[in-house]
Amino acid sequence: MSVETSPVVLITGASSGIGQAAAHLFVERGWHVAATMRNPSDGTAQAEHQRVLVLPLDVTDPASVEAAIAATLEHFSRIDVVVNNAGYGLFGPFETATDEQIRRQFATNVDGIFTVTRAVLPAMRRQGSGMIINVASIGGLITLPFFSLYHATKFAVVGFTESLSFELAPRGIRAKVIAPSEVDTNFSGRSLVRTFVEGEHAYSDTLSKIMAAMNARRGNYSSAALVAETIFTAATDGTDRVMYVAGSDAEQAFTLLHSLSEAERLEMIRQLSGL
Ligand SMILES: NC(=O)c1ccc[n+]([C@@H]2O[C@H](COP(=O)([O-])OP(=O)(O)OC[C@H]3O[C@@H](n4cnc5c(N)ncnc54)[C@H](OP(=O)(O)O)[C@@H]3O)[C@@H](O)[C@H]2O)c1
Repeated sequence: MSVETSPVVLITGASSGIGQAAAHLFVERGWHVAATMRNPSDGTAQAEHQRVLVLPLDVTDPASVEAAIAATLEHFSRIDVVVNNAGYGLFGPFETATDEQIRRQFATNVDGIFTVTRAVLPAMRRQGSGMIINVASIGGLITLPFFSLYHATKFAVVGFTESLSFELAPRGIRAKVIAPSEVDTNFSGRSLVRTFVEGEHAYSDTLSKIMAAMNARRGNYSSAALVAETIFTAATDGTDRVMYVAGSDAEQAFTLLHSLSEAERLEMIRQLSGL
């Protein structure tokens, strides 16, 4: 396929997990991929593929966002889809979160999406087509204890995307949101930032129950490849659907969620959390 005929996707946070799996899948399906990441040396293997352009992009650094989008347009002439995937989780008691932790969580998971989206929209409007796919979370629809700030960012992404979808549709641009359930990536390892120091806060009794429940669920996580398939479906199904849940149990969880009363939903969360 030539540069002119293959669609082009730009993915943020393509160094690992869902972003890396999505980059892999899109290139496998014949797309051109701008695989962006904070440290391009993490993408050395991806850069060997002739349809992949690895670029530095930190979503909290607007200059790097502008530069990566300009470089993608220069190289591939267009951007059909942006996958706003970069993000991480802040975990622990809200009370012990620092101002800097809160600022960084929103700067990455929310403002980062705003920055990338605003930077790419002029090109998509000129093209008369395009798509913004934002990776939120099932945690943008339902909560677990001790993830209050992470949920605040993901609920924001869900609301932002749905509203944006109406605004962009007349310009030929779609906005979609992916809500993965728990996925086997670096998210629960190096991408989980704690607001607490073990034993030095007032929430140890409940927090230890939540951590035990989280560890017990770990074997049931979905693969990043499965979420990448959902992202690819969103990019290519030609529909105006906005919300895509992703993961082996996500559809059932989503259906169940909407069938419960508030009391039932809160009880389900308590049970899931071991409270
Ligand atoms: N795993 C789950 O259970 C799960 C569930 C629902 C939603 N999600 C969402 O899925 C997305 C991807 O997470 P993942 O599970 O694939 O975890 P991951 O393997 O830890 O990947 C996170 C990615 O985000 C990148 N990133 C973090 N801060 C960034 C910044 N300021 N600028 C650019 N890139 C940045 C990381 O880059 P570095 O390599 O440079 O750190 C990494 O590539 C996140 O938005 C997450 O909230 C994950």
